[in-house]
Amino acid sequence: MPVKKKIAVIPGDGIGKEVIPAALKVVEATGAGIEFTSFDWSADRYLKDGTTIPPDGFAMLARDFDAIFLGALGDPRVPSNIHAKEILLGMRFKMDLYANVRPVKLLDESLCPLKGVKPEHVDFVVVRENTEGPYVDAGGVLKQGTADEIATQEDFNTRKGVERVIRYAFELARRLKRKKVLMSDKSNVMTFAGGLWQRVFKQVSGEYPDIQSSHMYVDALCMHMVRDPRQFDVIVTNNMFGDIITDLAAALQGGLGMAASGNIHPGKTSMFEPVHGSAPPFAGKNIANPIGAIATASMMLEHLGLAGEAERINQAILEAVQQKKTTSDIGGNLGTREAAGWIADQVSR
Ligand code: NAD
Ligand code: IPM
Ligand code: MN
Repeated sequence: MPVKKKIAVIPGDGIGKEVIPAALKVVEATGAGIEFTSFDWSADRYLKDGTTIPPDGFAMLARDFDAIFLGALGDPRVPSNIHAKEILLGMRFKMDLYANVRPVKLLDESLCPLKGVKPEHVDFVVVRENTEGPYVDAGGVLKQGTADEIATQEDFNTRKGVERVIRYAFELARRLKRKKVLMSDKSNVMTFAGGLWQRVFKQVSGEYPDIQSSHMYVDALCMHMVRDPRQFDVIVTNNMFGDIITDLAAALQGGLGMAASGNIHPGKTSMFEPVHGSAPPFAGKNIANPIGAIATASMMLEHLGLAGEAERINQAILEAVQQKKTTSDIGGNLGTREAAGWIADQVSR
C-alpha cells in the first residue's frame, strides 16, 4: 500500500468555499490515496479572532504536507486585504514558491471569444515569477493627504530570482516537448529591471540550444495573444505582467472560471489554486464554475506523481465541456455542485 499523499486544503473566501469542496469530490472519485486536512484561514477567521495565518503556519505546511490546495482570498469586509496578503502572498513568498505556472488551453471552440480559433490554436503555458517585483510591498507614502503627496512602489528583481524562473521555463519547455520560450518585459522603458531580465535570458537561453528563444514587449504580447495565440509555447515574465496576461489568457479559454495554476518550488511543498479570485457577487449562489479548481486539482495530482488520475480528470472535464454539462458562464445550466458532480461521476466510471 503506497503512503497516502497529504494535502492541506484552504478554501478561503467567497466562491473558494464552493469550488474547493466541489473539486475535492472529483479528486475523491479518482480513488487516489490522499488525506485532506482543512484549514479555515479566511476573512471569516480573521474577522472572528484576528488570525490570518498562525505563527508556525508556513513551517507546518512545508513540514507536514505534500501540497496545498487553495481556493481564493479576498472579501469586501476586509478592505485592507491584509489576510489575503498574509496568507496567499505569504505562501508564495515565505515558502519561496517562485514559479507560478498557468497553463492556457482552449478545450472547445465555442469557449473562445475569438473568431475561428480552435483548441489546437490555444495551448501554451505562462510561467510567472512569483516572489519578487512590485509585489514585495516595498515603498512608502510621503506628505499623505497633501497636494504634494508622493507614493513609491519598488520593483525588486534579483539575479537569482530572474535566473531561476527563466531556467524553470526552459526546463518546462523541454519536459512538455515544446519548441519555444518567449520572455516578455518592458525593457524599453523599465531599463534597469528589464536590462537584468534581458541579460539573464540571453545567458540562460544559450544553455538550451534545442529550444527557440524570443522576446516581446508586454504590450505587444497582449496584442499577439489576441491576434494569433497559436504562436506560443512557453511564456516567461515577471510577477506583475504575469498576473495581468493570465487574466487575458483566461478569457481565451472561456473565462476565469476555466483557468488553473500551480505555485511551485521544485522539491518543496507547492501550492495549487485556480487563477480566479473569490468573486464576491457570485458567492453562496452555487453558480461559480468549478472547472478552474478541478483542473487545478488535476495539476496538483500530476505534480504529486499521480499522472493517471490527473489524466482521467482532464478527460472528464473535456467531456463536460463538450456535452455542456457545465455552469452557465460556459453555456451549460448546472450549478457548481452539479457540474462538479457530473465530472466526478465520469471519473469514477
Ligand atoms: P475574480 O476572479 O474574483 O472575479 C472576476 C470575475 O470573473 C467575476 O465577477 C466573474 O464574472 C468571473 N469569475 C471568476 N471566477 C469565476 C468562476 N469560478 N466561475 C464563473 N465566473 C468566474 O476577480 P475580482 O472580482 O477582481 O476579485 C474579487 C476578490 O478576489 C478580490 O478581493 C481580489 O483581490 C481577490 N482575488 C483573489 C485571488 C486569489 O486568491 N488567488 C485571485 C484574484 C482575485
Ligand atoms: C492572482 C491574484 C493575486 C495576484 C492577488 C489576489 C494578490 O490576482 O493570483 O492572480 O495578484 O497575484
Ligand atoms: Mn490575478
